Amino acid sequence: MGGTATETRGTWGSRVGFILAAAGSAIGLGNVWAFPMLVGRGGGAAFVLVYLGCVFLICTPILIAEIALGRATQKAPIEAFRHARPGTAWWLTGALGVMSGIAILSFYSVVAGWTLGYIWFAATGALTGDAAQVGALFGRFAANGPVTAVLAFAVLAITAVILVGGVREGIERATKLMMPALFLILLVLAARALTLPGAAEGLRYYARPDVSRIASITIVSTALGQAFFSLSLGICGMLTYGSYLGRRENIAHAAAWVASLDTTAALLAGLIVFPVGFSIAGFDPATGGPGLVFAVLPRLFGAMPGGSLFGAAFFALLALAALTSTIALLEVPTAALVDRGWSRKRAVLTLTGAIAVLAIPSALANGGNGTLSRLPGVNTDFLSLMLTVWNNWALPLGGLLMAVFVGWVWGPRNALAELTAEGQTMPGAALWVFLIRYVCPLAILFILVMTARDLLR
Ligand code: PHE
Repeated sequence: MGGTATETRGTWGSRVGFILAAAGSAIGLGNVWAFPMLVGRGGGAAFVLVYLGCVFLICTPILIAEIALGRATQKAPIEAFRHARPGTAWWLTGALGVMSGIAILSFYSVVAGWTLGYIWFAATGALTGDAAQVGALFGRFAANGPVTAVLAFAVLAITAVILVGGVREGIERATKLMMPALFLILLVLAARALTLPGAAEGLRYYARPDVSRIASITIVSTALGQAFFSLSLGICGMLTYGSYLGRRENIAHAAAWVASLDTTAALLAGLIVFPVGFSIAGFDPATGGPGLVFAVLPRLFGAMPGGSLFGAAFFALLALAALTSTIALLEVPTAALVDRGWSRKRAVLTLTGAIAVLAIPSALANGGNGTLSRLPGVNTDFLSLMLTVWNNWALPLGGLLMAVFVGWVWGPRNALAELTAEGQTMPGAALWVFLIRYVCPLAILFILVMTARDLLR
């Protein structure tokens, strides 16, 4: 396909292209911005432990299921279910995914906009100064409603331009260069962070679980939600990407790569944020909030030769990582409309306009507007509330429906036929069937019910 608007479905250029695009969708602000913040709120290593359990026991099997369903039907969210089980209400799972994509993009674009601002701050040397000054800078910047809204609009506009270009041209090419560069810079930053004074304390906090904390259902449900968010699951995004995948590729293998790369990136981000954080006097990871990464990391750049260059490069890569995720988020509703006969261009433009409006309350939620910054009754800001509602509820619900659909309705036989199409092997196929039929649905259901019970108490 060419770089112009086209009605035909695109395909990935190569297997590596798919893995990179799916990993690009997975790796983003969820890893670098949300993960350290939620580890901080969740009390450190105990959260990390639960998170890892969720990724490998619950989310990776669902990731395999989503890609398989997408490739088997060659359809986007809603139509995929209609195609696999016509005349049933299962298409609502796709509709939930479309809604989640729109809602998540509305606040995700705001945080992605912050990273654009921070490229500028780092490059112009505004991030030097003591911890208090750097923290105050974030406060002032995030409270500037008009600027943060315009930056969010810019993110949405760039996303729209890339999406109109189509699957292979836009998404694949952007990701191929960015991913290795991002990993490299994360490694360099982690190496520097670990040699800071105070790093040992941060490391202890990050790696030594206080197991008694796992008893809290909030931690478990947040870890589950974050695992879904980070792997781009439960919104039918991976289903959509899978629908562009050729039959010769091994899905389980690709899924294992995506989950491992995504988890490595998240763990690396924590390995940077906590050692640096604890090197600052009076640091409390639990209160960092949405500004945690933006307040902590500049301290690291200040401690490096060529720090402003490093800082600018880091935020530029983070912005690119965010962009490969916004592309995936917007691709879900776009693909749903394209499958219903809309032109790609019209779908992208309509959705982008609507999401830009929806982004405004999130842009005003960190000081721009008093009420939105501290919602009465829930005692949190609008952006954090969006994160909780969509991550902790909508995505696991989408994942639950996906597991039940693939495990029981579409059925393991169809799924395994797709997973082993064209002579592919799938080691651990029986284990996967067991996980997708029993472990995934029951674990998610249990966590959702317990969380609801806790809320109602
Ligand atoms: N996984 C992305 C991140 O971690 C966010 C995302 C969620 C992207 C859902 C697409 C779909 O930043």
